Amino acid sequence: MRNARRDFPEGFLFGAATSSYQIEGHATGGAGRTHWDDFAATPGNVVRGENGDLACDHYHRFGEDLDLVRDAGFDAYRFSTSWARVLPEGRGPVNEAGLDYYDRLTDAMLERGLKPCATLYHWELPSPLADLGGWRNRDIAGWFADFTEVVMGRIGDRMHSVAPINEPWCVAWLSHFMGYHAPGLRDIRATARAMHHVLLAHGRAIETMRGLGMSNLGGVFNMEWSDPAEDTAESAEKATLYDAIYNRWFLGGVFRGAYPDEVLAGLEPHLPTGWQDDFPTIGAKLDWCGINYYTRKLIAPDPGPWPGLKEVEGPLPKTFMDWEICPEGLYRFLTRTARDYTGDLPLYVTENGMAGQDDLRAGKVDDPHRTDYLDAHLDQVRRAIAEGAPVRGYFIWSLLDNYEWSLGYEKRFGLVHVDFDTLARTPKASYHEVAKALKG
Ligand code: FCB
Repeated sequence: MRNARRDFPEGFLFGAATSSYQIEGHATGGAGRTHWDDFAATPGNVVRGENGDLACDHYHRFGEDLDLVRDAGFDAYRFSTSWARVLPEGRGPVNEAGLDYYDRLTDAMLERGLKPCATLYHWELPSPLADLGGWRNRDIAGWFADFTEVVMGRIGDRMHSVAPINEPWCVAWLSHFMGYHAPGLRDIRATARAMHHVLLAHGRAIETMRGLGMSNLGGVFNMEWSDPAEDTAESAEKATLYDAIYNRWFLGGVFRGAYPDEVLAGLEPHLPTGWQDDFPTIGAKLDWCGINYYTRKLIAPDPGPWPGLKEVEGPLPKTFMDWEICPEGLYRFLTRTARDYTGDLPLYVTENGMAGQDDLRAGKVDDPHRTDYLDAHLDQVRRAIAEGAPVRGYFIWSLLDNYEWSLGYEKRFGLVHVDFDTLARTPKASYHEVAKALKG
């Protein structure tokens, strides 16, 4: 790796990220059923119909996994708490084993000198709440606030930082408009409601945690840069609309108390009544803003109903996800977010990384593509910092190969290889490169 810790400001945090459903093994420990279990059980949704029943069995192996985080020299570990593990019905009775688990996990991080950075919701909605309409039902904001109170009432005293919801765009648009993630809907009315309720739930969780006396609370937004596919006014307009749906809706709601007009043009007729009155809650003050960044998209017009756009294959080199590698997009987002939305608020890159075809050969995984990807993105983080963007940390997605949602176990994002038959962990070459960089 070309980049090293010494190239970043004093106190800059380096971390590794994971999420509960993707690694824990959800069939264990009394966790309730989630809409991802239902989605995966429906033919055609997930590659080979795979689910998170066993995943990396992190539930039983977290000690070994946290040793790997510590030994690489990371400062922080970003993890998530499963709603259905803690409240199997989504509301009401607590699964004490689930709460105990997050308690032990927290202490295990602290014992290893790692800062616990929690995300309350990384997508495993309890099925009984999906039965009630899930993110389409306004009551979800209250259910989520109650869940927040239960979990953070137990571990909140030891968290370094907390964000309520991972990637609101995925929770709302990807899952209710595109249908690629659970609950797999393709419905504009459901989408509009989810787009709003996800932010309302975020705000309620922040208010709840403030009530518990907690600090260092933020939001984690995934961002995709969009460029026009062709040099035409129509393409440019659609790329701007894509940016508004994907990125500016959520930042606008949280940091400016307003949604972009070009998205309201499509969604307003479907929003719940009184949505304008929710901005004081949605905009609850934050202490930092997290950006998950992987790729950019080329956008072109597409005939048909709003939004009338489509993604077009781009010319840049791609990862195993078929995502173009465009490190400069990260720089653009860091500088633009500070300039247009967050000012001096600390920014964190809360996810960045790539999937590769990472084969285990003679006990080793050679993944120079991953080291190059990380280096190229770290260059852009430094460029943003040099221009004054208040970037305070960088988290790699992911510590382990894991359940990559509708793509099952095929797409390997880990610094550590996982053999999904034996569950053996093998640090890849990139893990060793990162470890060297963090010591230097
Ligand atoms: C992000 C998700 C994470 C993982 C990576 C590849 O959108 O937060 O769970 O799927 O993408």
